Amino acid sequence: AKVKPNTQIIGQNLVYFARLDSTNNLAMELFKNNMAENGTVIYTDQQTKGRGQMQKEWISQPFENLMFSIVLKPVTNISTSPFLLNKSITLAVYNFISEKLKHEDVKIKWPNDIMVNSKKIAGILVENSYSGHQLNGSIVGIGVNINQSFEENDTINATSMCEQLNEVLDKSLILEKLLETIDWYYLKLINSDTEFINVDYALNLLGFGQESEFIYEDKVLKAKIIGCDDDGRLILRKNKVDDIYLHGEIKQVIK
Ligand code: BTN
Repeated sequence: AKVKPNTQIIGQNLVYFARLDSTNNLAMELFKNNMAENGTVIYTDQQTKGRGQMQKEWISQPFENLMFSIVLKPVTNISTSPFLLNKSITLAVYNFISEKLKHEDVKIKWPNDIMVNSKKIAGILVENSYSGHQLNGSIVGIGVNINQSFEENDTINATSMCEQLNEVLDKSLILEKLLETIDWYYLKLINSDTEFINVDYALNLLGFGQESEFIYEDKVLKAKIIGCDDDGRLILRKNKVDDIYLHGEIKQVIK
């Protein structure tokens, strides 16, 4: 089915490939060669070298799930807070999924994962292109588990929309609607209407305001999640003192 989202920017230019190494790679290449306008979406049914955060692989059953990347030119007013783009996109994906899965417990796992009943359903990988210190573009890669079944494989803590809803879903339709949600958030971002983004992102974090367990320097750390700063660092409170942590140095224990 043809994907034609009703959007202003995101996915107005949309390109499909049956198979790619990674949609992020192609999107970055097109961007660097000035061949992708703002909001261009590259999507595929199969990745041979899908990438996740922290140099991990992103493995996805061919044809079952959504895999796409969006090319975005910098928004001038957010130069002071690079993580705001991550927050906006994460919140868009979060909102889309929680509306579809109304009866489930949907949360954001810092920094960019979407969890349903403590299992991962979607991941986001934002890669920035700089010349010197100047940001000239961002590639936003999104993977959402749609029709894959994870039940028989309990070594990976993942789930899909199909598994949650007990029905096979139309991926093209989901992509269309998800792009529309992302477009809505992107327009807020470029119009500097961003205060609610920081608030909503924090409020929907898995473990927000609660005593949660983390692994930090090989030890268990119990602390309360306060939020996430402008650089994307996690703010934790312990014994009335706040500390900030980088992605990769701390791991939240999922129960
Ligand atoms: C993560 O959770 O670690 C991020 C996963 C991001 C996966 C998507 S799938 C489309 C795009 N292309 C990639 O190679 N990765 C992202």
